[in-house]
Amino acid sequence: MAELIDITVPGQKKSYPLKDVTILGRAATTDIRLDDLLVSRHHARICKSGSGYLIEDLGSQNGVFLGGSRIAASQPLTNGEKICIGPYTLVFKDVESNPYPSAEYTQIIMAAKDTLPGTPDAAMGGVATGKGNIEQLQKNLKIFHDIARVIGDINDLDTLLNEIIQILFAVFPHAGRCFVALHDGEESQLVIRTVQTKDSDMPGEGGVLSQTLARRAIEERKSLLVMDTQMGSQVSTSIKVIGARSMLCAPLLCPQKPLGILQIESKSREYEFSKADLDLFTGIASQVALLIYSAELFDDLKKAHERIASENKNLRKQQQVQSSFSNIIGRSPKIHEILERVKKVSNSPYSVLITGKSGSGKELIAKSIHYNSSRSGQPFVPLNCAAIPRDLLESELFGYEKGAFTGAVGTKQGLFEVANKGTIFLDEIGDMNPHTQVKLLRVLQEKELLRVGGTKAIKVDVRVLAATNKDLKAAISNGEFREDLFYRLNVVPVHVPPLCERREDIPLLVAHFLESSSADVGRRVKGFTPEAMVLLSNYSWPGNVRELKNVVERIVTLAPDDSVLDVEMLPQEISNKSPVQLQKYKSAGTLYEAQRQLEMEMIMDALKSAKGNKSKAAELLGISRKVLYEKLDAYKI
Ligand SMILES: Nc1ncnc2c1ncn2[C@@H]1O[C@H](COP(=O)(O)OP(=O)(O)O)[C@@H](O)[C@H]1O
Ligand SMILES: [Mg+2]
Repeated sequence: MAELIDITVPGQKKSYPLKDVTILGRAATTDIRLDDLLVSRHHARICKSGSGYLIEDLGSQNGVFLGGSRIAASQPLTNGEKICIGPYTLVFKDVESNPYPSAEYTQIIMAAKDTLPGTPDAAMGGVATGKGNIEQLQKNLKIFHDIARVIGDINDLDTLLNEIIQILFAVFPHAGRCFVALHDGEESQLVIRTVQTKDSDMPGEGGVLSQTLARRAIEERKSLLVMDTQMGSQVSTSIKVIGARSMLCAPLLCPQKPLGILQIESKSREYEFSKADLDLFTGIASQVALLIYSAELFDDLKKAHERIASENKNLRKQQQVQSSFSNIIGRSPKIHEILERVKKVSNSPYSVLITGKSGSGKELIAKSIHYNSSRSGQPFVPLNCAAIPRDLLESELFGYEKGAFTGAVGTKQGLFEVANKGTIFLDEIGDMNPHTQVKLLRVLQEKELLRVGGTKAIKVDVRVLAATNKDLKAAISNGEFREDLFYRLNVVPVHVPPLCERREDIPLLVAHFLESSSADVGRRVKGFTPEAMVLLSNYSWPGNVRELKNVVERIVTLAPDDSVLDVEMLPQEISNKSPVQLQKYKSAGTLYEAQRQLEMEMIMDALKSAKGNKSKAAELLGISRKVLYEKLDAYKI
């Protein structure tokens, strides 16, 4: 039987048995999964062929390397051969042949001598036999245990490195200097990050390191033992300057990238670091690399978290300003009434159900309620129930546990948890399916939820605001909406009338959007002509304030600088009055007179079309019967 041994991280071998056909790649369906972006989804294939194995590149992006060169056609594998794929190094091993050589990731450099001196504690890295060796193994285990403890407690990189150096001094009592050097940003040069010395004449802060030695350790992915450094001529000047007699230098590698090196040096004449020291040091370095990597990740996460928190704070402030009551424009009695109610209800804990046609300002009102409540420093989380597929709505709202359904690979918080201590705004609540309605009712009553697939109740403190453009009472009688949920949500009802029922707000809204969109696009305009204003005021606005806002924004964007906005600039559906008719209104003199005249004409037309039926005429005009009666009275029609 043959296998591949992953030696990417020194000291952490992983073996994969080979089948008759074995696929390697990033895809989850491969036999040997190499999870890195440098690896293609189906990168390479190893097939049994006669008594041996062949490797073949499956058209990967970054290639398969054997002995340092990229393979073009399929190649036979020989025992002990290294296969490089992306950041991974895998060794091909035939179990019948020689065992994998343990010295694969270490190398001994001797400056003067060419034979390895006797190593008093050689058994440390080798096979343990006898009492002394078992004690040594136990000692080594304790070292790794100590390192593991350090991982658990510390996430700050500098504190972590200082602790590790302390452990190294304890493990290698002859070491006089110990340091960690890391890549500085994108630089290929290494910079000492943390250094400690026991020998006062060894270089400390800002001290020397041999870039050549470090680069060699990183490029060859090998730990190096350098002996007799002061005697040979091959060693670099910087090593001589350090004044050590022997040193251990291990690359700090993690699957994603090389981080730097870990090095200890000794000046002792009586003791030189040995092969056994090198093996132990290599094992420690592989742990240290992972620790540094996770500390760096933690640091990045912390920074990202701080940045997001401050951005969030600014955004909330902006939202608060934009959602103040003064941003709800209008002077009609209806808007006035809504504002009074909204102000009163803001600080109460109750649910508010906002009804009204699309674009009439329901979400703006919901935001104002939130940002003027004691919850304003907490999240406002809007969700459009109509925009989420039925099956997903529940997990979107309440979250799910890992394995709750196919595709639930991890646990996810729902929006109720995200909105904790804040407000959730459920838009288009009338489109929520009955099953989710039951769950929502439970959350409103119990103030706790179960994630999909979960069994543990999670407490939440969320205020619910809901909106709909549907007639929920009708939905209740059709059996589409739960009556109990309706009464839970409708503690305080707010109805926003369509824009055509509060035409007196139109000029104010137009002025408001003219100002905001001029500022947005950086253009000055002089406002609408009286004729254009009359048309804007009389249009039916089926899309309500949203439509009005879009119309004004479009006109401002297209208008020349400093222009007066005339009828021609209005969209066809608003300006479909002939110039002759307009002239008639113009001759009426004041805007008020023109408006009066137009209203009278439109009412007469509508009454004529409705054959005198006032309800129908009101409907045609887009106003309530009550308003129509008032107008008939005022115009004495
Ligand atoms: N009274 C108002 N004053 C100022 N802007 C408004 C007003 N009503 C609505 N808007 C604006 O109109 C657009 C649509 O409003 P929105 O609240 O999303 O409507 P709805 O939720 O009812 O569909 C938004 O840009 C909103 O800011
Ligand atoms: Mg809306």
